[in-house]
Amino acid sequence: MKHRPAWAPDEVDIERPSVARMYDYFLGGSHNFPSDRDLAEQAQKAFPDAPHVVRANRSFLGRAVAALCALGVEQFLDLGSGIPTVGNVHEIVAARRPGARTVYVDSDPVAIAHASVLLRDTNGVAVVHADLRDPDAVLHEAVHAGGLDLALPVAVLLVSVLPFIPDEDDPARIVAAYRDATIPGSHLVMSHGTNEYRPKQVGDVETVYAKTTQPGVFRGKAEIGRFFEGYDLLEPGLVDIVHWRPEPEALRTDPLGGDVARYSLIAGVGRRLV
Ligand SMILES: C[S@@+](CC[C@H](N)C(=O)[O-])C[C@H]1O[C@@H](n2cnc3c(N)ncnc32)[C@H](O)[C@@H]1O
Repeated sequence: MKHRPAWAPDEVDIERPSVARMYDYFLGGSHNFPSDRDLAEQAQKAFPDAPHVVRANRSFLGRAVAALCALGVEQFLDLGSGIPTVGNVHEIVAARRPGARTVYVDSDPVAIAHASVLLRDTNGVAVVHADLRDPDAVLHEAVHAGGLDLALPVAVLLVSVLPFIPDEDDPARIVAAYRDATIPGSHLVMSHGTNEYRPKQVGDVETVYAKTTQPGVFRGKAEIGRFFEGYDLLEPGLVDIVHWRPEPEALRTDPLGGDVARYSLIAGVGRRLV
């Protein structure tokens, strides 16, 4: 029998690659197995810039959360939060809005096990093991176990997560359910891989991800934009991820030379309309 580390619950099939653990591998984390690393390397053959793409994604997450803190947002519902890494939402929030709440939700048992251990003594943070495709169950847990107050604005985060919700599951309906559960003045933060620039390469990535526990799809910009129905996009709108309020100097020092096709990632932040 293969070695099973303490952070991998018994229910985890360590031979079956997981999206969360592959993402952890791309970010240089240690919560992944040979099966995850092998498949991540196959994905990287199809899309060689994958490690840069995931870092750009995390960087956007940080900028978006910091921007919302500056607007006074004090509740964050991070759906598909992943295996904790550097620059987690609650850390960005704690530095700016002490007293704010962060609820992490993921369906991956490793992500949840690791987050639960790591964060058990951290104030203002809750970890929920749930499938985001069931908004009623997620919101119930987020309120009752996570202490979220739906009478106050909430930032709903869907950062590189909706690619793992296939069209058959009607992602627009799911996003709308979270929108409708939150009050005006709440926000939606989203990034999503796009097939606009390199359809052949991202098609090959989809083929690789079909072997994971959660196959993924890339979408067109217009389709991604429709997920923001009922939200007003904050400046600069729905854009290539490196163009969403970049840090000064970021575009000059961009490891991919600012070539948005090499990222193939779209991002935006919306404010829920009245
Ligand atoms: C690519 S990672 C993104 C992690 C994090 N949001 C970020 O951007 O750094 C996708 C995460 O979504 C989670 N996920 C995928 N489908 C999910 C679902 N139906 N319910 C909850 N989590 C899901 C995966 O387990 C994984 O941790």
